[in-house]
Amino acid sequence: MGFGSQFSVFALALLVQHSVAQNSTNSTYDVLQYVDQLIGSANGGMAKAVADCDAQSNQGGFTTEGALITGFSSMHDSGTGGNPSLGNFALFPYASCVGDDVDGCKYEKIQRKIPYVASSVKASPGYFGLQLSSGISVDMTTAQHTSLFRFKFPSTDAAGSGSPLILLDLTDLSDTRQDNGTISVDETTGRMTGNARFQPSFGIGTFVLYFCADFSGAPVRDNGIYVNSRASTDVKDLTLARSINGYPLPGGGFVRFKTPGSNGILARVGVSFISSDQACSNAESEIPSFDFDGTQKAANDLWREKISPITVSTTGVPSSMLTNFYSGIYRTMINPQDYTGENPLWESSEPYFDSFYCIWDLFRSQMPFLTILDPATIARQIRSLIDTYRNLGWLPDCRMSLCKGYTQGGSNADNVLADAYVKNITDGIDWDTGYEAVLKDAEVEPYFWSVEGRGGLDSWKNLGYIPVEDFDYKGTGTMTRSVSRTLEYSYNDFVITQIAAGVGAQADVEKYTSRSENWQNLYKADVTGGSLAGASVFTGFLQPRYLNKTWGFQDPITCSNVDPNPNSICSLQRTAGETFESSIWEYSFFVPHDHATLITKFGGPDAFVKRLDFLHDNNITYIGNEPAFLTVFQYHYAGRPALSAKRSHFYIPAYFGIGHDGLPGNDDSGAMGSFVAFSMLGLFPNPGQDVYLITPPFFESVSIKSQVSGKTATITNVNFDPSYKNIFIQSATLNGAPYTKNWIDHSFFTEGKELVLTLGRTYQGFGNFTGNSTSSNEKRAQRFSAVPINELNAKTGASYWASQEG
Ligand SMILES: *[C@@H]1O[C@H](CO)[C@@H](O)[C@H](O)[C@H]1NC(C)=O
Ligand SMILES: *[C@@H]1O[C@H](CO)[C@@H](O)[C@H](O)[C@H]1NC(C)=O
Ligand SMILES: *[C@@H]1O[C@H](CO)[C@@H](O)[C@H](O)[C@H]1NC(C)=O
Ligand SMILES: *[C@@H]1O[C@H](CO)[C@@H](O)[C@H](O)[C@H]1NC(C)=O
Ligand SMILES: *[C@@H]1O[C@H](CO)[C@@H](O)[C@H](O)[C@H]1NC(C)=O
Ligand SMILES: *[C@@H]1O[C@H](CO)[C@@H](O)[C@H](O)[C@H]1NC(C)=O
Ligand SMILES: *[C@@H]1O[C@H](CO)[C@@H](O)[C@H](O)[C@H]1NC(C)=O
Ligand SMILES: *[C@@H]1O[C@H](CO)[C@@H](O)[C@H](O)[C@H]1NC(C)=O
Repeated sequence: MGFGSQFSVFALALLVQHSVAQNSTNSTYDVLQYVDQLIGSANGGMAKAVADCDAQSNQGGFTTEGALITGFSSMHDSGTGGNPSLGNFALFPYASCVGDDVDGCKYEKIQRKIPYVASSVKASPGYFGLQLSSGISVDMTTAQHTSLFRFKFPSTDAAGSGSPLILLDLTDLSDTRQDNGTISVDETTGRMTGNARFQPSFGIGTFVLYFCADFSGAPVRDNGIYVNSRASTDVKDLTLARSINGYPLPGGGFVRFKTPGSNGILARVGVSFISSDQACSNAESEIPSFDFDGTQKAANDLWREKISPITVSTTGVPSSMLTNFYSGIYRTMINPQDYTGENPLWESSEPYFDSFYCIWDLFRSQMPFLTILDPATIARQIRSLIDTYRNLGWLPDCRMSLCKGYTQGGSNADNVLADAYVKNITDGIDWDTGYEAVLKDAEVEPYFWSVEGRGGLDSWKNLGYIPVEDFDYKGTGTMTRSVSRTLEYSYNDFVITQIAAGVGAQADVEKYTSRSENWQNLYKADVTGGSLAGASVFTGFLQPRYLNKTWGFQDPITCSNVDPNPNSICSLQRTAGETFESSIWEYSFFVPHDHATLITKFGGPDAFVKRLDFLHDNNITYIGNEPAFLTVFQYHYAGRPALSAKRSHFYIPAYFGIGHDGLPGNDDSGAMGSFVAFSMLGLFPNPGQDVYLITPPFFESVSIKSQVSGKTATITNVNFDPSYKNIFIQSATLNGAPYTKNWIDHSFFTEGKELVLTLGRTYQGFGNFTGNSTSSNEKRAQRFSAVPINELNAKTGASYWASQEG
C-alpha cells in the first residue's frame, strides 16, 4: 500500500544506556529522546492502546491533525493505508451526566466526540496520554493482551454531581460491526464482557473479538447498557443487530462511579480472539493489580531489550538524525504482531503472527531489518507463515485481523522465506514445508488469487509472461497489473532458486532460473520513455503484451509520481492499468536478480546510471512507495556506489523528517521506518539475496550485536563529517584487510566483523568491482551486476563520474 495518508502512530520511547565500542570515550545516551510518535509494544503485543479520532488519516487511531476524539481503544494496526483497522470497543469518559441522569450523557460516537488539548499529548515507552477539552485527562499503557487506561477528572465539575461515567462502545474505527454485538455488565463489580464480529480493513471475511473490562479507583454507583442515545441502569445485557442503513446501531455498556480518589479511575481492558473468559484471564494475569507504573516500566524494559542491539556514536550528529534513526527502528518492530495463543482458526503449537500488512510492502526492507535486529522473531514469523500455508493451503501475501488480505502483485512471501533462508535463519523452521509452500505458489493457481498465490499461471508457464486481458479460467482475481505481476513473478521464481540450491533441488534451480528470465518477454527495445520532457532519449521499457503476443501500450510515465493524467487508476481497481501503484518507468528497474542483463538492455552502466538519475531527478519515483527503495541503491550494480550514497542523503532528510508530517505518506507498517534505518546504517539489502549494499553510515560508527552469535559487527567512518560532505568511500578494510567490494554478506552480522570506511569528498573508484573472487557470492554479484563494467567504464571516461559524484 502506498498512496495513503499521514503517519498516525504514536511512540513508545525508551531509555538505553550503552557504550560505543569504536570510540574510546564512554558514550552513553538516552534513547528516550530519540524515539518519537509511536505506539505499541514490541513485536507484539496485541494491545496497542491509543486515542481514536475522526480524522481522515486515523488508520492508527490517533493523529496530530487536530481531529475530534471519539474514544480510547486497545488494538490498532499502525501506519497502514486504506481503511482504519481495529480500534474496537472504545471507552469514553464523562465527569458526570447532565442532571445526574444517565440519559444526560451522550453515547453515540458522532455525538460524544470532542477536541483534545494539543499541548497535552504525551507519548513515551508503553505510554500515551492527552487531555480532553472536557478537562478529563486520559493516559494509558499496555501489556501483551491488556490495556490499562487511567481517567483523571477535573476537581471542579460544572455539572456538579461528581459521579463519573465511563462507557464502552461496541464499535470499531471503520464502523464494520456485524450482527450480534453483545455486552453484559456485572451489577456488583461493573465488569463488562462481550464480543462482536467485525470486518478486516483490507481483506475478506470477518473476525470476532472478545473483551473484558474491569474498573478500579472508585466505588461503583450503578451500571447498565445503552442503545442509540438512551441508557438504562435496569438492563444489564444487550445483543445488537448491525441495523439496516449501513451504519452499526450505537450500543454498549456503562458504569457510573461514586467520587474517585486523586488517582482517578483505572479501566483494565483485556482482549482475546478466543473468548471473553480468555480476555479476562489475560487481563488478570498480565495486570493483576492495576499497577500503572509497573506496567509502563515493563513495556520500557521490553523496548530497551528489543532496540539496544543497535548503537551508534552520537558524536557531532544532530539529534534530529538520531530521532529519525531510532524512530525508524522502532517502527520496524510494530508489525507483524504476535498473536500466538490467540488464533481460533486452527490448532497448532507453532507461533501465530498477524498483521502482515502487506508483504508487498514488508519484504523489501522491513522484514530484512528484523533479520539483523531480531532474528529470533523473524524465525517465529517464518514459522507462522509456513504454518498458515500448512493450515490454509497458501502462504499469505497480506493478512490482518485473522483474515486474508488482498494481494498486490506477486506471491511475495516467497521473497521473505528466501531472504531468511539465505541468511541462515533456521531456528525451528521446517524448511521442507517452506520449500513446498513456495513451489505451490509457482505451480498451482488458487481459486481466488486476489488473496493468495498467483494468477494466470497457465500463461506464465506457456507464454512466459502475464498477458493483458489474460484468459484465465482456473482462478479469479483482478485482471490488471500484467507488467508489474510479470516482474514480481519473475523475481518470485528467482528466489525459489535460492532455497532450491540449499535443499539440493538442482533441477528446480535450473527450471526457476529460466522462469526468472520471463520479464525479458515484456521488454520492448524500441519504446521510448514517454511524454515527460527529456524522457524520449531513453529507449527500451517493459510493455504490456496480449495473449496473441502482439504488444499493447502503456505510457511509461502513467501511474508515476509525475503522471500528467490526474485520472489514471493505479491500484487494485478493476479498471486499473498494467502496473500497480507505480509506473513502467520505475518497474522497468525491478529486476533485482539480473542486473547484468538489465544493465546491458539499458545500454550499459553509463546509460543505466543516467536513467536512474532521470528517474530520481524528475520525481518519476516516489520514495513514499516501496518500489522506489531499491532504485536509491541500484547505482551499486553499475559500479557507482557513491551515487547511491548521494541519493540516500538526498531522501534523508528531504523526505524523512522528524516532524508530525515527517513521512512521505503513511509508514506502511514499518516499511518506511526500515528504509530510514537501513539507509542510515549504511547497508541496504537486496531481499532474497545474501547481499547488503555498502554506503557510509550517517554516524561516525554503528554497532549491531547479533542476537544469534552474541558477536558485535561494527562499521566505522574514518574522516566522518556530520555535515555529510564526506560521503564518498575512498577505501575500506574488513577485519583489517583491504576490502574492495561495494557489498557485504550476512556473515558480517553473525560473525561480528569490522568494516572501516575511509571517507572523502570526491569519488575515487571504490566499489567498481575490479576485484576477483572465487566465492559463490562474488560469482553471483558478478553475474548479477558487474562483469563487463570495467571495460565499459573505460570507454565512457571518468569525467562524467567526476561531475556526478562531486
Ligand atoms: C570519540 O568521541 C569524542 C567525544 O565525543 C570525540 O572527541 C573523538 O573525536 C572521538 N574519537 C574517535 C576516535 O572517533
Ligand atoms: C562506561 O561507563 C559504565 C557505567 O558508567 C562503566 O561501567 C564502564 O566501565 C565504563 N567503560 C569505560 C570503557 O570507561
Ligand atoms: C447472529 O446470531 C444468529 C443466531 O444465533 C445467527 O444465525 C447469525 O449467523 C449471527 N450473525 C452473525 C453475523 O454472527
Ligand atoms: C491480438 O490481440 C489484440 C487484443 O485482442 C488485438 O487487438 C490484435 O488485433 C490481435 N493481433 C493479432 C495479430 O491477431
Ligand atoms: C521534485 O519534487 C520536489 C519536492 O516535491 C520539488 O521540490 C522539485 O522541484 C521536483 N523536481 C522536479 C524536476 O519536478
Ligand atoms: C550459514 O551457515 C553456513 C553453515 O553453517 C555457513 O557456511 C555460512 O557462511 C552461513 N552464512 C551466513 C550468511 O551466515
Ligand atoms: C576502480 O577503482 C580503483 C580504485 O579503487 C581504480 O584504481 C580503478 O582505476 C577504477 N577502475 C575503473 C574502471 O574505474
Ligand atoms: C580477474 O579474473 C580474470 C579472469 O580470471 C583475469 O583475466 C583478470 O586479470 C582478473 N582481474 C583481477 C583484478 O585480478
